[in-house]
Amino acid sequence: MKQLQSYNVKYDWEQLAQKYVNSNVEGYIPVTLPRNQVEDKQYFEVSIAFSKEEIYSNQPFNRPFTIQSISKFITLLYVLEHYGPAKVSNKMKLSASTVDYNTTSADLFLSNNLILNPFINAGALTIASMIKGDNNSEKVSTIIAFIRQYFQVESTVDESIFLFEKANSYNNYEIAANLKQYGFLEDSIENTIDTYLQLCALRMTTKDLAKIGFIFQEMVSKKHAAALMVHEAMLQCGLYRASPLSVNDKYVPAKSGVSGSILAYSYCHDTLYSDNIGLGIYSPLLNRDGNSAKGYDYLRDFFRNL
Ligand code: DON
Repeated sequence: MKQLQSYNVKYDWEQLAQKYVNSNVEGYIPVTLPRNQVEDKQYFEVSIAFSKEEIYSNQPFNRPFTIQSISKFITLLYVLEHYGPAKVSNKMKLSASTVDYNTTSADLFLSNNLILNPFINAGALTIASMIKGDNNSEKVSTIIAFIRQYFQVESTVDESIFLFEKANSYNNYEIAANLKQYGFLEDSIENTIDTYLQLCALRMTTKDLAKIGFIFQEMVSKKHAAALMVHEAMLQCGLYRASPLSVNDKYVPAKSGVSGSILAYSYCHDTLYSDNIGLGIYSPLLNRDGNSAKGYDYLRDFFRNL
């Protein structure tokens, strides 16, 4: 067991960040996002929260981005909190992703008539269809209010990214149609897609993600029932096909989004680590697995040194 003092972590994270600010990586921006709007493709930003208030960044200004699949972690927490575990476990498992997140074929995203996990699009669309609200805009407001209440973070939908994705999101229409056919969706295909994509288009900064990560690890430490289940999903399937990420024989709890964003955390109950922290990372170029190329490497190095 490694027991480092807090000050070591505070020192190391920033020095490690500098390595990634200066490095150049190969990578791509997915076709579902407006790639030509990303100016500085090698940009690297990380924020670390040591408490709700004590949040540091390696960059002087935080660049907002859309959280994409990190929204799947929030909506899963919302649904578990409001409806209990059976609502989710009747429809999906928490197995690691053996298929790409946007796999359209029901033959691939289902196993024994259950969706593989809530973080592939089939699972996330199903979860999005369960959110309370009479229409899509009420559902999105429900989640924005949930984020405010649980994590004290304000977020709004980036309308232009939402509309861009909606016009380019053919896979999601195919997945939603399959889900409807098999009886998984609790709302119409159109409403489900709109809710899901608007939640993907919520704008945040790395400081917001670090704060959410910090507050979430507190919920996990206090054995909050819904948080424990979401935590399991974060360990098993938060990084697409690169999950679980194992460092020093421990799985790293994290969720990534195709904007190049990653939310992660560690907590004392996990005896390997001595600090309760939340992490938010943003660097837009993705690696082959669909995770931020610099962000994934930083995450691995950070936990290796923790
Ligand atoms: O569904 C999409 O294509 C995007 N909004 C994907 C979000 C994402 O980050 C990948 N999901 N696991």
